[in-house]
Amino acid sequence: MSISDNPIGVFDSGVGGLSVLRSIREQMPEETVLYFGDQGHVPYGPRSMEQIQNFSEGITQFLLDRGSKLIVVACNTASAAALAYLRGRFPDVSFVGMEPAVKPAAETTKTGRVGVLATPATFQGALYASVVERFGAGVELFQHTCPGLVGQIEKGELDSANTRAILEDALYPMLEKNIDTVVLGCTHYPFVIPLIQQVVGKMSG
Ligand code: DGL
Repeated sequence: MSISDNPIGVFDSGVGGLSVLRSIREQMPEETVLYFGDQGHVPYGPRSMEQIQNFSEGITQFLLDRGSKLIVVACNTASAAALAYLRGRFPDVSFVGMEPAVKPAAETTKTGRVGVLATPATFQGALYASVVERFGAGVELFQHTCPGLVGQIEKGELDSANTRAILEDALYPMLEKNIDTVVLGCTHYPFVIPLIQQVVGKMSG
């Protein structure tokens, strides 16, 4: 077996990285993917950088031991807390990480006001600061950590009253500030896009 036949290792704190896996499958259907969801430790968002680095290092080693040729950190939180650390620990391994999509949002917004939903660890990390510095000039960003949302998605509550309440708490104040674009800075959040659309539509409609 040549290295090109080896799997791509993908990991997240839980099911969130499946939204990334879906894109990998669409764009590279010939690739084999090995997926690790760390549901023993989810959510990562409220944890310390050090803890997230330790979990990420262990999972990377697990995926490498099973022949992964490349590691996709399919988690904004682990990317923010551990991507630079992982590159230092495994200098011969290629890593692909996530960063909140502030760049396309800044290019799309007409009001110049953008909401960003992500976890506390993502907002605290140097990666987010660098994204804002590189792409956020001239745009006003409104951040929210959506406490509890990752847990709701892990439970499969994609459309419940509690999940809706979390999203309303995050989005209503942003809509009052006239945002017209929302960045989903956590790979779990695409699973609640239909609910987000309902919440946003109800406000603007
Ligand atoms: N999917 C992770 C992310 O992209 C979820 C974070 C968490 O476990 O809190 O940030």
